[in-house]
Amino acid sequence: MTEASAQRKVSLSSGEIVGPGVQCISRTIGNMKGIYRDEQSRASLVPETLVYRVQTFCPVEEGNEGGLFWGTTFVNPGMVGDEYFMTKGHHHAKRSRSEFYLTVAGAGALILMDESRNTVFEPMSAGTLHYVSAYTAHRIANTGNAVLSVLACWPSDAGHDYDSIARDGFSARLRNINGSPVLVAEP
Ligand SMILES: [Fe+2]
Repeated sequence: MTEASAQRKVSLSSGEIVGPGVQCISRTIGNMKGIYRDEQSRASLVPETLVYRVQTFCPVEEGNEGGLFWGTTFVNPGMVGDEYFMTKGHHHAKRSRSEFYLTVAGAGALILMDESRNTVFEPMSAGTLHYVSAYTAHRIANTGNAVLSVLACWPSDAGHDYDSIARDGFSARLRNINGSPVLVAEP
């Protein structure tokens, strides 16, 4: 049996993917330097604190045209200053590539920024389906008290460009203002 045809299972309650060839990456508070507005708050947290992890199943080599990748992102609940625990965020290296997200559990926000740097967010809760259009940077934030679990499917030649977000950021940040998530434009 080839890797592509071997059986994998996705828990529809947790999003956890089990089976051969499933890989996982983790991002801790220590890995998130420069991502949050309040760097002092970030630096004061235990560096080993897990912010999120991503499981991926990539049946073809990254960069191949015509394939699809599958993944689950698990964002832990937590705050850095008034910003929620969130992913670093990325553009696709090939900007013309889009992506589907499906929320499995938890509460969160999908933050989207188009090429004109207009930033919006879509609330996420169990069952919400989100289409990330081409040419749109994306990141997810956990606005709740439990793990936010989100399934994703994207083209195998999309790639990830984290550098432009690390350099230029999003044009707005999702901040907890009086208990609610609000997008606040960056000065
Ligand atoms: Fe993506």
